Amino acid sequence: MPGGVQVAPSLLAADFARLAEEVESVAAAGVSILHLDVMDGHFVPNITFGPPIVGAVRRTTSLYLDTHLMIRDPLAWIEPFTANGADLLTLHAEALGEGAGRVVALEQAREAARRLAERGCGFGLSFRPATDPLPWIEEIGDRLDLVLLMTVEPGFGGQGFLESQLPCIARVRELRERRGFPFRIEVDGGIGPATAGRCARAGAEILVAGTAVFGRPDRREAVAAIRAAALDGE
Ligand code: DX5
Ligand code: ZN
Repeated sequence: MPGGVQVAPSLLAADFARLAEEVESVAAAGVSILHLDVMDGHFVPNITFGPPIVGAVRRTTSLYLDTHLMIRDPLAWIEPFTANGADLLTLHAEALGEGAGRVVALEQAREAARRLAERGCGFGLSFRPATDPLPWIEEIGDRLDLVLLMTVEPGFGGQGFLESQLPCIARVRELRERRGFPFRIEVDGGIGPATAGRCARAGAEILVAGTAVFGRPDRREAVAAIRAAALDGE
């Protein structure tokens, strides 16, 4: 995954009738990562897109495709998404071992790590605002390429940033440094010039932004404003 502080535009806020142009507009603005939000209408109350669109995006760009799976039964979808060119798949911790308890959930996380590594794909784990990520990270932090901390309730773009997540970002960063884990820390939801600095100060390195990038006419200016705020906060 690209290093340093990164702005990762979320395609969710783009104009889907002009997908290739939209992707090109953020590549031209200098980003390295594109964030793809996959929703299934079950794990979250919204539906977006699946493997064919990821494949279509893959054919138009060499940007790093950071694919956020807000879906139930994510293990069943590893093959279709990796086959369509995702560079990294982020699964939700809450979608693992559904109803079967923590031991099964952790087993599934380890299985996902193994299968993604075999396919040369990165592995991320994401957490809803109400989920404590620390027990998960304690167990499998050494297998993760990314920890995605939601700063809104997953499901929709354009929501207000949850300030209450800032201490959680700091705790994850502290645990990573203490244990020497390799993963990077990403925040997602309500990120823009007004919130990026506080996230970076708390320890986030990858800032997902949908509305604050694709909702602005000048993508270069939009990305630069978020990046400057993050570097200022760091
Ligand atoms: C929300 C998605 C986000 C969303 C962010 O469930 O995971 O990636 O696109 O959108 P904004 O930046 O508009 O909050
Ligand atoms: Zn997302």
